[in-house]
Amino acid sequence: MIFTVAIDGPAAAGKGTIGRAVADRFGFRHLDTGLLYRAVGVIGGDPVAAARALRPEDLARDDLRTLQAGQAASRVAAIPEVRAALLDFQRRFARAEGGAVLDGRDIGTVICPEAEVKLYVTASPEVRAHRRWLEVGGDEARVLAEVKERDARDMGRADAPLKPAADAVLIDTSAMGIDEAVAAACAVVADRLPPR
Ligand code: CDP
Repeated sequence: MIFTVAIDGPAAAGKGTIGRAVADRFGFRHLDTGLLYRAVGVIGGDPVAAARALRPEDLARDDLRTLQAGQAASRVAAIPEVRAALLDFQRRFARAEGGAVLDGRDIGTVICPEAEVKLYVTASPEVRAHRRWLEVGGDEARVLAEVKERDARDMGRADAPLKPAADAVLIDTSAMGIDEAVAAACAVVADRLPPR
């Protein structure tokens, strides 16, 4: 079966947690596409060359989750040649046999407009910044400023800007716990699965 779950949304909305849980529940593979851009940003040098030469082990680096890596990711992510270099890998992953969940910014709009399920997961900037602050620590006001800056860059760029696909199901996790958000996402997927 070819079946793609596309999960898009702004920084720290809970896409990764929901994506992993949906993949586990339905036995699909999961790709956190933010790691591709984070790795390109952290490798440094010419981002286009880094994107073209990206290897699986680059995605396992332990320095990809920092605030700096997030900022570097959103800067290189605005370069069309970087996005183009990462396109085929993501498309193949999405349409490979067995079912796939991809989370990112442009999965339902650009990478896989034919996805069987499209979710747009969001929450207020304050709630998202608080969640990210629990992970990274430091000054919460700075984390909030960083989240807002990255959202503005991701939504404002010319190539593949962050926005909900016209046919995406919106899940606002501002007032939801993880279990509730995962249940909401799984319900949409279960409803769209072909009968067996
Ligand atoms: O985990 P978080 O939501 O904070 O960020 P991420 O998903 O790891 O993405 C980091 C950055 O990579 C984003 O701010 C985007 O600029 C970029 N990105 C993108 O442009 N397209 C994607 N499909 C995934 C990430």
